[in-house]
Amino acid sequence: MMNETLTNMAESPDFCYPDIPFHAIVEQSLAGIYILQDECFQYVNVTFAEMLGYSPEEMTGLSLQALVPPDFLDNVLDRYHKRLRGDPPSMRFVSRGMHKDGHVVSIEVHGSRMTYRGRPAVVGVGIDVTERLQREEELRESRAQLQALTAHINTVREDQRAKIARDLHDVLGGMLTSMKMDVTRIVRRARTREMKEIASGLMQLTKETIDTVRKLSEELRPSVLDHLGLQVAIERELAAFSKRFGIDAVCESGGIKMILSSKQATWVYRIFQQALNNIASHSGATQVRVRLNFGETELDMEITDNGCGIDPLRSTIGSMGILSMRQRASELGGSLELGPGGNGGTKLELTVPLLGRTG
Ligand SMILES: Nc1ncnc2c1ncn2[C@@H]1O[C@H](COP(=O)(O)OP(=O)(O)OP(=O)(O)O)[C@@H](O)[C@H]1O
Ligand SMILES: [Mg+2]
Repeated sequence: MMNETLTNMAESPDFCYPDIPFHAIVEQSLAGIYILQDECFQYVNVTFAEMLGYSPEEMTGLSLQALVPPDFLDNVLDRYHKRLRGDPPSMRFVSRGMHKDGHVVSIEVHGSRMTYRGRPAVVGVGIDVTERLQREEELRESRAQLQALTAHINTVREDQRAKIARDLHDVLGGMLTSMKMDVTRIVRRARTREMKEIASGLMQLTKETIDTVRKLSEELRPSVLDHLGLQVAIERELAAFSKRFGIDAVCESGGIKMILSSKQATWVYRIFQQALNNIASHSGATQVRVRLNFGETELDMEITDNGCGIDPLRSTIGSMGILSMRQRASELGGSLELGPGGNGGTKLELTVPLLGRTG
């Protein structure tokens, strides 16, 4: 609308600008300004010329062919002729220019069709966005690297947990079982009252140690996940959670159970555990509902609590739990949403595609 008005005003022979020193404004403008006609620069201000390492005198008269990198020339010529045809009359895009010293400069231009010396031309404004684009690219790269690093840490941590869980269970568990057998013999052979007391105390301690090792091993890597699958692992963990924290918990599941890859099952289970940790630490909830649905193409998990609700601002600052949940969801090609639960609490929704598995 604004452009149309300017074009109409500029092309109207009756229109007289008020007494404004346009020339001085254009010459001092911090944005580059140019006029293109016959595929050549008919006018450039100092700023535009300097973007490409020229003085206005040097640059005036140079063609697009001389100033645009060859691999981008067709693009620029196409846009130039489209504007001359009025299709569309005005365009904004990031163009590329060849600096006098040979490096490529990115210039965001906004050029419109106007009449110059009685013939159609493109009059435009441009700003150098080379640095901005470089910074954006660097930011994209470092985000991608950060994601790759987080994914790597998740995998390494999971592998280490599984290894320590196995060692605890097989090695330490095996040693403790042998100890228990020996202690059983000591108990049987203890003759004095004092020896009997010591031996039965030792037996009690051995049994407790075996239990502790088993628990530690399960916490590190629930064997039920490998043997009985995700749904059973979730149901058991939820029941233990309910007992530990005195929070009512229900689990509903539906659909046809699909066999998940080890990574899919583990990652979903870790997201579930992290969500339960948050409910216990932050929500003050008295009820938790978990819904697990195996669809034909995706797995959906919904965890709702009736607690205080999540503060969207606090949930994004300096916390690793939600970040790690999102990272795991994205590694599975899925999505994770956190928001109000409808009953004042919080709802977590995880969707993981089951076709074209990731791991
Ligand atoms: N179910 C919930 N109910 C209410 N608030 C929640 C819930 N889940 C998360 N939050 C809020 O979101 C914040 C971020 O959670 P997140 O798990 O990312 O970090 P954290 O639990 O504070 O720390 P950690 O890095 O140890 O997990 C929490 O501090 C809490 O304020
Ligand atoms: Mg947390």
